[in-house]
Amino acid sequence: MKIMVTGGAGFIGSHTVDALLERGDEVICVDDFNDYYSPQRKRDNLATAHTSPSFRLHESDIRNFQGMERIFSSEKPQKVIHLAAMAGVRNSVEFPVLYEEVNVKGTLNLLELASRHGVRSFILASTSSVYGASKDVPFKEDNAAIRPLAPYPATKRACELMAHVYHHLHGLHCTLLRFFSVYGPRGRPDMTPYLFTEAISQDREITLYDEGRPQRDWTYIEDIVRGVLAAVDADQEYEIINLGNSKPVVMRDFVSIIEELLGRRAKIISPPLPPSEPPLTYADISKARHLLGYNPTTGVEAGMRSFIEWYQREVA
Ligand SMILES: NC(=O)c1ccc[n+]([C@@H]2O[C@H](COP(=O)([O-])OP(=O)(O)OC[C@H]3O[C@@H](n4cnc5c(N)ncnc54)[C@H](O)[C@@H]3O)[C@@H](O)[C@H]2O)c1
Repeated sequence: MKIMVTGGAGFIGSHTVDALLERGDEVICVDDFNDYYSPQRKRDNLATAHTSPSFRLHESDIRNFQGMERIFSSEKPQKVIHLAAMAGVRNSVEFPVLYEEVNVKGTLNLLELASRHGVRSFILASTSSVYGASKDVPFKEDNAAIRPLAPYPATKRACELMAHVYHHLHGLHCTLLRFFSVYGPRGRPDMTPYLFTEAISQDREITLYDEGRPQRDWTYIEDIVRGVLAAVDADQEYEIINLGNSKPVVMRDFVSIIEELLGRRAKIISPPLPPSEPPLTYADISKARHLLGYNPTTGVEAGMRSFIEWYQREVA
């Protein structure tokens, strides 16, 4: 199968690319290597992929319709896994226009090109943050998800709706995967596991909101990638599916796990939770279990041990 992976040099993208190559798929990777975080790290993420004859890289911006059109024309992918995005909730509060351009316009370009070029199915990365501060827990896919707390989840919800239009009008098969706080080796430097590990290792303060009371449903990268590949194979007509761990962790306990693994105590400052952040994320994953055979197996202690091993080997 010939599969385009957008954002393929990023955290989730590069693991997805490696897993697809490993099982024998041909991979067309699209990434613009922007400097939201180190472009060199993104290049390093693709080191294994570059050793495969089934891998091709296109350095291109998904906002550039003509550029993307040329890639679809020459490569003719059968399926698209669309992971390229501006991620990061708090950064989106500062740069809402950029988030709208990359996430909404970029996705619209890809949906249009996918349907023009006869792509069979389109897998799109959405996010748990579309649920906002919903009290209806655990979060289920039939939640209206119409009260986002920041530009980032609003753009992702717009992508889900736009995908429905392309399914309805053009018959494009679309699966929208709502990822819940993904972590693991190659993890993003703007995310809590990385920020806390780095700060505690360097004896700097960490910002733990609201005395560490918020809860996050941390989901290990290998579990997420298995879910993504299962969605590629399942070829659903149009479905929104949560991919989480369904075991929310109190943030104070998350810090204790990192302290234990590093053998160091955290210096904590604790401002109130910003209004862009929900107090809890918690995935109901019964739909993923049913439709994708999804079954996350990595707990947060084991997952953070792998992350910290990677961090100490590759970053510190
Ligand atoms: N990591 C998480 O916890 C999480 C949770 C929910 C949803 N997601 C979504 O999963 C996807 C992957 O996230 P990630 O954590 O791997 O982030 P990431 O930033 O590591 O990966 C995104 C990649 O997309 C590329 N990209 C960004 N803008 C682009 C553009 N205009 N054109 C081409 N490439 C572009 C970046 O260079 C990067 O390599 C994103 O869509 C994100 O919104 C992630």
